[in-house]
Amino acid sequence: MTTRSANSSTAPIKRPRTIQIDSNGRLRHFIAIEGLSKSILTEILDTAESFVSVTAQNVKKVPLLRGRTICNLFFEPSTRTRTTFELAAKRLSADVLNINISASSSSKGETLLDMLRNLEAMHTDMFVVRHSSSGAAQFIASKVAPHISVINAGDGSHEHPTQAMLDMFTIRQHKPDFSSLRVAIVGDLMHSRVARSQIHALNTLGVGELRVVAPRTLIPVGMERLGVQIYQNLEQGIRDVDVIIMLRLQNERMHGAFIPSEQEYFQLYGLTEKRIALAKPDVLVMHPGPINRGVEMDSAVADGEHSVILQQVSNGIAVRMAAMSMTMRSRADAEGEA
Ligand code: NCD
Repeated sequence: MTTRSANSSTAPIKRPRTIQIDSNGRLRHFIAIEGLSKSILTEILDTAESFVSVTAQNVKKVPLLRGRTICNLFFEPSTRTRTTFELAAKRLSADVLNINISASSSSKGETLLDMLRNLEAMHTDMFVVRHSSSGAAQFIASKVAPHISVINAGDGSHEHPTQAMLDMFTIRQHKPDFSSLRVAIVGDLMHSRVARSQIHALNTLGVGELRVVAPRTLIPVGMERLGVQIYQNLEQGIRDVDVIIMLRLQNERMHGAFIPSEQEYFQLYGLTEKRIALAKPDVLVMHPGPINRGVEMDSAVADGEHSVILQQVSNGIAVRMAAMSMTMRSRADAEGEA
């Protein structure tokens, strides 16, 4: 009796579809929202939903990633994102390494690739990467060993996919039918990775109407090609909207003067209670944080009845648990096939 080796099988060889999606159509890395299907985005939201109850129970742990090691590689400062990734990993029972890059050997001249090889040698299963350069997470995903998953925690002004998904999750909790929603994203669209990911996510989930509101200097050239309506006047831009997403002025990414002054910006684009009255009565006010009170919004708005800003932070844990468990499932499938 002869046994057919895997090589002589007539089954077509499965190839990965993109760097993010494996040959079984599963999320392998999570680098960007652009290019992902509605069904993958919905799967992330549904998986996050199933984790919300875990974060509410007394013992906040499930054993899904027991024995796995997740490495937080943050080349840029972060509080909310890094800690919610850490909590998400711990609630999935993974071991977590937090690498403080400024204090690490990269400041002694070690290259990024050497650093990765060393972390791989410690049997890391996942890198969560934040970097000031657009494309950094994709670069790392293209270089790591085949068993490792990479999640982008924000790369330059490119994308911040888990932030956008926790925003979608928060919107869906309050207003589940995206097709009936009018959403306005207000502020520094030029430098915001969050806005880019949100625009792709909202379009893919079939939002009814998507507006962006900012001074001309903070709107990237060609933005209308992303299927948004551009407003330079805040009052017009937020009239009758269901959701207002405010963005921080990303001063650290501005090379030159994009606005006359923060005071003048607040006069024209700051969200106040008076302005909120122009939107739908049950409008949601969102912000990815950190908020600059008195620059993009009044304190009364940040802490007011329409604000879901702290819910966004809490939802970050369940959504990051979803992203981690889904990318690890892709890997578990690959191990099963091997
Ligand atoms: C955002 C980021 O870092 O891109 N913040 C976050 O992740 N919570 C937005 C910002 O810094 O303004």
